[in-house]
Amino acid sequence: MVKSSSIFICQQCGHEDSKWFGKCPSCSSWNSAVETAVQQRGNGIKSSYGFKGKKSVSLSSVPSKSTTRTSTKISELDRVLGGGLVSGQVTLIAGEPGIGKSTLLLQVAQNLGNVLYVSGEESAHQIKIRADRLRIKNKSIQIMEETDVDSVVAMIESQKPSTNNLQLLIVDSIQTMSTSDLSGMAGSVGQVRECAFRMVRYAKENNTPVFLVGHITKEGTVAGPTTLMHIVDTVLWFEGDKSLSLRLLRAVKNRFGPTDEVGIFEMGDIGLGELDSEKLFLSQGNKSVPGSVITSILQGTRPILIEIQSLVVPTKMAFPKRIAQGIDSRRLEVLLAVLTRICGLPLYEYDVFINIAGGINIKNDPSSDLAVCLAIASAYFNKILPVKTLVVGEVGLLGDIRQVIQEDKRIKDAKRMGYGNIVNSQRVKYLNIALKKFLQ
Ligand code: TYD
Ligand code: MG
Repeated sequence: MVKSSSIFICQQCGHEDSKWFGKCPSCSSWNSAVETAVQQRGNGIKSSYGFKGKKSVSLSSVPSKSTTRTSTKISELDRVLGGGLVSGQVTLIAGEPGIGKSTLLLQVAQNLGNVLYVSGEESAHQIKIRADRLRIKNKSIQIMEETDVDSVVAMIESQKPSTNNLQLLIVDSIQTMSTSDLSGMAGSVGQVRECAFRMVRYAKENNTPVFLVGHITKEGTVAGPTTLMHIVDTVLWFEGDKSLSLRLLRAVKNRFGPTDEVGIFEMGDIGLGELDSEKLFLSQGNKSVPGSVITSILQGTRPILIEIQSLVVPTKMAFPKRIAQGIDSRRLEVLLAVLTRICGLPLYEYDVFINIAGGINIKNDPSSDLAVCLAIASAYFNKILPVKTLVVGEVGLLGDIRQVIQEDKRIKDAKRMGYGNIVNSQRVKYLNIALKKFLQ
């Protein structure tokens, strides 16, 4: 007879106990225990690894299979997944509450056939309101309000054959799911891990792709934390500034595809749409203005054109202001120092403001150094760069301009969009010469 029960395991020293009261009796660390399900066999041996008669096989005898992928018909999502969903693939979509996880998954459900949407967060009625907003027409989406993971699996079994060819199972969210085999609350590390584990088992046994929604904490970790990442096949981070419409979907881990791809979406009135990047990131259109420079950054393997905007105004204070939105403020300080010392711009008498249009964050990506410098100089001299100019290059402390990663790819993409005038390290070697050549 095999019976499920749970034990507590200290994450610091590995001590096991059937009860836990805050402090580990072995290593004395506080709150270090995670509740874990074990199977109790008739002979009293606790085991979750019982020998089930499986044998090892030689690797060379395993037949090669090409993975067949099901397209979600959302090209940005397919791109991040590596071409579509693989059968039995378990994907965690993690993001802050309100970023659009449920919206994206409902849109995926619309595009696939037979889908079961398990919601532990919202009622069927709330999902219906969202579905109406998204104009969902797919009649074979089943909604289930449930927070017990075992009931979900049992329900799928009991409703066979209608759930036989389930094309997708969505669990929104894994933090609301629990199993009665553990005593912890839903959302605790033990519960989240165990529920994810059971969902993975279901996915692999039935070859059904599963999407798990995971909320992330303020610190940016998936609650129930990194263990969840090891259990699933694919981890996608959904991020963006909630006050703006831009959303980025990044693959952090992917057993079936690349991890450097990024999907770009725009949250609109009827859900997430694919993005016209020119529209969102570039404000200048066909005319150039002082302080505005176009550069190309890489999001995953994809180059995106962005506009760096700068404003330089005489300061009224002893310490001039340096305000950077979308770029690292320390990087800005370094570039200002180079502009002051090497190029002789008296920027210590001016407040400098930098903004990346569209709300994208380039952090301290050095490939946009030259563009930031030229934007500041352009604002300072009140001179414009020619229309359709692309600026790429890293700036060293000595004012030298260096080549950036995948420069050819960025330039090729920009040329396709009509940016024929390229300013890079091949055209000009030093920042002070670039300023003279293009802005004075
Ligand atoms: P939601 O998918 O509920 O977020 P999550 O599941 O990640 O918590 O998205 C909620 C936000 O998206 C909410 O602020 C409303 C907005 N939204 C739109 O702007 N357009 C839409 O069509 C929909 C459905 C939602
Ligand atoms: Mg949601």
